[in-house]
Amino acid sequence: MNKPNPHLSGAVEAPMKLSTAPYISPEYARAEKNQLWLKTWQVACREEEIPQVGDFYTYEILDQSVIVLRLSEDEIVAYHNACRHRGRRLLQGCGRATHFQCPYHGWTYDLDGANTFILDKENWSGALDDAALRLKTVKTGRWGGFVFVNLDDDCGPLEDFLQEVPYWLGVFETGKMRYKWRQWLRMDCNWKVAVEAFIEGYHAETTHPQIAELGGGKTGSSAEGLHARLFQVGSAGGGIGTGVNEKDDIDVRNIPYLGLKQAQETIWSNTSETFVEAARRLPDLLPEGVDKMQVSMKLMEVACQLDAERGVKWPQVDPMHMAQVGINWHVFPNTVLLPNVTFCLGFRMRPDGFNPDSSIMEVFALERYPEGEEPETQWEHKPEQTGDSWPLLIKQDFRNLAEQQAGMHSVSLSDGLHPNPVQEASVINFQRNLADYMGEHAPELLEPGKG
Ligand code: FES
Ligand SMILES: [Fe+2]
Repeated sequence: MNKPNPHLSGAVEAPMKLSTAPYISPEYARAEKNQLWLKTWQVACREEEIPQVGDFYTYEILDQSVIVLRLSEDEIVAYHNACRHRGRRLLQGCGRATHFQCPYHGWTYDLDGANTFILDKENWSGALDDAALRLKTVKTGRWGGFVFVNLDDDCGPLEDFLQEVPYWLGVFETGKMRYKWRQWLRMDCNWKVAVEAFIEGYHAETTHPQIAELGGGKTGSSAEGLHARLFQVGSAGGGIGTGVNEKDDIDVRNIPYLGLKQAQETIWSNTSETFVEAARRLPDLLPEGVDKMQVSMKLMEVACQLDAERGVKWPQVDPMHMAQVGINWHVFPNTVLLPNVTFCLGFRMRPDGFNPDSSIMEVFALERYPEGEEPETQWEHKPEQTGDSWPLLIKQDFRNLAEQQAGMHSVSLSDGLHPNPVQEASVINFQRNLADYMGEHAPELLEPGKG
């Protein structure tokens, strides 16, 4: 199942410069529409957002709008959100429908997309072809509880696009998780600046000093074809939140509790109540002198048992898989997932129209709940970047985004940016793959010494 990568794999070997144009150029932002957004698979919503037949969610990308609809218990379809008469958008937001009636002149479509009513149809003297007046469909695919769409009728299957993502992340069964919280805001930066802030760990020491206090250690990243993985170097166990590091002045048995408690308070995710409680018990359950691998295994054992007692069943994950999966995956182009056995933090960034200096950023935490105890959540707009609206760690990241965007307009950067070829291989991989999509619109990537 572990297939070879068609593109790149492992570390990006040579240092590489990156052009600022993809982040700041209005022409590039326009070209992304045809080259990228009309061609690529992208997350439209989660299945849990349209649980009942007739539930719909309108997904917007640039000037395109797509109705994602649950047509039957097992079938999800998508339509272009534009009336075939004279183009009015049919729906906004999300809700439940038995049919779609256009508010302008009343043309009506059933959930299958067939046109079922045209006012004064005889005025066309028989020239209308009902079959041709269906709502046009958009390709859909499903993985991990996410509904993907692709606006290219000739696109390949989602499974091919996802490459090794289902192999590595499928074990966590994110389809069985539900939203714990979800919120969004506009950000004064390009959508790729926002993505890149969450796919590399090179910034952690400076931007998130609290992580280093617990022996956070270094991260590395690897290109995984279209996608990328971020991993912790030298940590035992693995997975976000449950890897165990070492720190000279802290008993290794206490490290998980300090780390998971910190995650609970500063990320509101990357852990669960169960994991915090399991970690709290570790010093009583383990003798002095154990190593970090033993600590990690005990943590998982106790947490699994505590969850079983409250009706949360864990997926089966091979410890070797867990050790290699990493803490964070970039799913090209605009989704970032940090999954573990019972929780997952996720991000989706989208352009805000064609303005290269603005983006829409959505952040969500998923968790596995006992059946029937899933919380009711909504998308909450949280425009405040300070105060209590966002967890500390994400606020720390926010502080860089608009400032980086502003800085990238500097004429001094015309000879390129210098991403770290080891710890930011994910960023380089993203820009190289994006350049493939952009074709002739892609700027040259320059190697050091030549620029
Ligand atoms: S635009 Fe929809 S019925 Fe006229
Ligand atoms: Fe960060």
